[in-house]
Amino acid sequence: MEGSLLEVDVQIVTASRSHLSNIFKAINMAGFTVTEPIYGLLAAGEVVVTQEERDLGSILIDVGGQTTDIAVYFDGCVHYTEKLSIGADSVTRDLAYGLRTSLSQAQQIKENHGVAMSSLLDQNDGEVNFTAMDGRTFRKVSRRTLIDIIEPRVEEIFTLISEKLQDSGYADRVVPGGAVLTGGGSLLKGIEQAAEKILQLSSRIGLPQGVIGKSDIVGHPSYATAIGLLGFPYRGDGQLSSTSANKRRTVRAASVAQRVKEWVEETF
Ligand SMILES: Nc1ncnc2c1ncn2[C@@H]1O[C@H](COP(=O)(O)OP(=O)(O)OP(=O)(O)O)[C@@H](O)[C@H]1O
Ligand SMILES: [Mg+2]
Repeated sequence: MEGSLLEVDVQIVTASRSHLSNIFKAINMAGFTVTEPIYGLLAAGEVVVTQEERDLGSILIDVGGQTTDIAVYFDGCVHYTEKLSIGADSVTRDLAYGLRTSLSQAQQIKENHGVAMSSLLDQNDGEVNFTAMDGRTFRKVSRRTLIDIIEPRVEEIFTLISEKLQDSGYADRVVPGGAVLTGGGSLLKGIEQAAEKILQLSSRIGLPQGVIGKSDIVGHPSYATAIGLLGFPYRGDGQLSSTSANKRRTVRAASVAQRVKEWVEETF
């Protein structure tokens, strides 16, 4: 076969050198060395998005504390990524402000009693006890009031995601596989339903798959990125960084990733 033009479409993710250097320093101070920086969302995607969802088209949404990251997959790979500077901690702050209580108390209320959508509220869902800012005065709040505080913020986050998806031009491509929600924020009760309503996509929670260990760690969406990194191919010696279950796929990905990287380095 003869050819005169070789083309490739690549998704280049960049990071500021000073940010990376600060992270490297922090990791070194903790007694570890960095082999290579890897975009966390790709690592999380390795363990929460299935091959079928990547092929058909889906959107990965990692709802963290400070940020929400999205990645669009179709035809087997990532075509678009975006980071929003809003995450589940904004719900905590709203609750702390609305209930005049501490952030830690607000976080507990959110995690133990929070619900993302008023339509999921039961008539007799009652009241929640908590302590005021001083940590001593006992207060009560109805579940209805909690949802009135939580729901608008959750809607805001998914509306922003929807806008980014529309702007990316890939909104139609993710319809078959729908949305996969991960990150600690995805544990908020009713968040799948909120995502379905606002994004108009079928949604599911993406728990890390294919890793054996303590279930409160390996099955927790907060650890999806860390767990994904364990099996992620890195450039150091071109070998697997762990005994991943899907060894063949990862080794193949390593060599492809390495070739793309070399190409990017030579070109730029
Ligand atoms: N059971 C739960 N119910 C509701 N929210 C929860 C639950 N557990 C954790 N969260 C929320 O998840 C958020 C933290 O998520 P995660 O651990 O993924 O963040 P992070 O990766 O540290 O942050 P970022 O990605 O922004 O850097 C917090 O807002 C926390 O309150
Ligand atoms: Mg995160």
